[in-house]
Formats: sequence, structure tokens, C-alpha cells
Amino acid sequence: MRCSAELVDRIGLSVTLRSLAVIVLGPDLMKHVLFCLIATCTGVSAAPDGAQLFTTNCAACHLLDQMVVGPSLAEIRGLYLGKPDDFVKWCVAPKKKRENVIDMPSMVHVGDEGLKAIYDHIMKVAQGVQAKKQDPGDPYKSSATYTARPQMQRIFMPNAGPAAIAVALDATNSLCWDAGECRLRYAWTGGFIDGFPYWRGNGSSVAAVVGTVKYTEAKSPFGEAKDLKFLGYTMKDKLPIFRYQIGTQMVTEQFTPLQEGSGFHRTFTVTPTPATSLALEFTAQEGVTITSNKGTMEGTKLTLTPADAATFTLTFSLK
Ligand code: HEC
Repeated sequence: MRCSAELVDRIGLSVTLRSLAVIVLGPDLMKHVLFCLIATCTGVSAAPDGAQLFTTNCAACHLLDQMVVGPSLAEIRGLYLGKPDDFVKWCVAPKKKRENVIDMPSMVHVGDEGLKAIYDHIMKVAQGVQAKKQDPGDPYKSSATYTARPQMQRIFMPNAGPAAIAVALDATNSLCWDAGECRLRYAWTGGFIDGFPYWRGNGSSVAAVVGTVKYTEAKSPFGEAKDLKFLGYTMKDKLPIFRYQIGTQMVTEQFTPLQEGSGFHRTFTVTPTPATSLALEFTAQEGVTITSNKGTMEGTKLTLTPADAATFTLTFSLK
């Protein structure tokens, strides 16, 4: 069977790449690379053409229009249009060029002819494609197949803005926080995310939630805020504490998983403490019980005295 011969070929290749890549990538990224290589085994083109060679050797690290592990094909086209020999030279002996990226492993095993075919393929598919801007030092970037918990990942998520951050609080509780709007979008139970639709990268793909969304927050509990600014996050026990500014107030928001049952604790601090009482509105939803260690809760509306607003913790129990 032609298919099985091809499979053996690719497994052989992935072993070569593995030993190379473990050194430069570390086990987490490696899982992603292997994942992509294994995924290509399900493809069915038999001819060893440029497109196929690209999929097998390069696609794990190079997407069409955005930087992931390596630069986008759009960027590569801009650098190497009309210079196939320089392109081959790079691939055989890649150099350290960009900051905050791993070293590209040598592609010498593909051979000059193979690399020229890949070159033609890249110049063709990337024609007229605009590379998306992306912060090269994106601190949230990690492999979609990395399974340690807790974990956070900057990835395109469904029903969220482009600055979404997915957080796996523990093995079964996860949430999506939107750094663009400085608010929780939703929380789910089950698995974490399947990043493959995103990593496969046709530009419009978002990661898929693995599990069931149990709580969706319709808007920021602080209400429609002007002068909203995301200030990043700090880590505590491997979990993020998001920091943002609303007007003249600094807010921190920390999530920790419940010890028992599904759900999470959510601790806010507000500095300086507000001059008058603070009212927060959460979203009423079936199967969701919200309690607070301070203030008075009426339905899903929490009212806090200025002193209580300094720091308070809500508990979200999800059925
Ligand atoms: C394991 C990940 C990985 C694989 C696989 C990989 N690359 Fe790269 N590639 C990178 C990284 C990372 C960079 C950026 C290196 C730097 O700037 O220091 C890069 C950069 C490049 C560049 C830009 C060179 C320049 O002058 O800026 C080209 C061209 C390129 N790769 C082609 C390829 C081709 C063709 C393949 C497949 C045959 C391939 N790469 C496979 C990670 C990879």
C-alpha cells in the first residue's frame, strides 16, 4: 500500500526532526510540532510536490499570514522573492536573526530540489497576502497541546475579542478572559481548548472550547466603563491576577478553582477605595450560584461599602 510506505517515511522524518527539535524547542513546543506532523499523516496527496513538502517539513512553524513559531509566509515572500538560492541557503543553514524566537532547525534533509519546490509553493500561496501584526514577544504564547495545569494561553477564542486569554484553572475548570475589554467572557467545565483549528491557521480560525460553557458574563460587572486600560497580569501559584484601570481606579482580578465541585473564586481589589458605595452587576444564569464574602447580594447585584470594596471575593458555583 502506497499510503503505509508514505506513513513510514513521515514517521522516520518526524524522528529526525524530533531529536533536532527537542534540543531547540523543549518538550512543550515539541508536542505541538509532532502533533502537526502526525496531523499531516492524515492528508492524502501522494506526489512529493512543494505543497506537500511544505506541509510535512515547515507547516508546524510557519503559517500563511501570521508569526507563530517562525515568520509568516507573507513575510518570507517579502524577504526572498526572486532569490531562490538565498532561500535554500537559509533553509540548509538557518541563522539566529529574530529576537524571542527559537532557532530554526536545518532543513538539509529536504534537499535542494525539494527546497526549491517549497520555495515555488511559498511564493505562489503568499502572493498578495498581508501579514498580521503580532507582538513578537507575546508572553502568552505556548503550545496548544501543552497539558500541564494550571495554564494560560493567548489564543483566538470563540465569542471574545482578539486579545482573549484562555486560562485552565485546574483539570476541569477553565475560563476565557478578554484583555481587550478587561473582563471575563465565559467559564466552562470539562477539558481545556483544542487549538488545532487555530494552529492550522487559515486566519479565520479560533480555538474550540472542549467542554460545556456554564457561565457567560454579558458585560463588565463594573458597567460600561470609559478610560479602560489593561495593565497586564502577575502570576501567583501559576495562576494569573489580571490588572486593569477603570478611570482613576486600579482593579485586580484573581481566579482560583473551587476545591470541591465546579466553579471558581474571584477576588477583586480596588484601589484607591471608592468614595461612595460600589455596585457590581453579574449575569444571572441557570445553574450558577454567586455568593460574596462581603457586602450584600441581591440576586446577581452586589453592593459594597467603600471599605469592603478594597478587597472582596465572590464564589461562582457551576452546576
Ligand atoms: C521547528 C520550527 C521550524 C520549522 C520546522 C521550520 N522553520 Fe523556518 N523558521 C523558524 C524560526 C523560529 C525562524 C526565525 C529564526 C530567526 O529569525 O532567528 C524561521 C525562519 C525562516 C525563514 C526566514 C529567514 C530570514 O531570512 O528571515 C525562512 C525562509 C524559513 N524559516 C523557511 C523554512 C522552510 C522552507 C521550512 C521547511 C522546509 C522551515 N522554515 C521549517 C522555525 C522553523
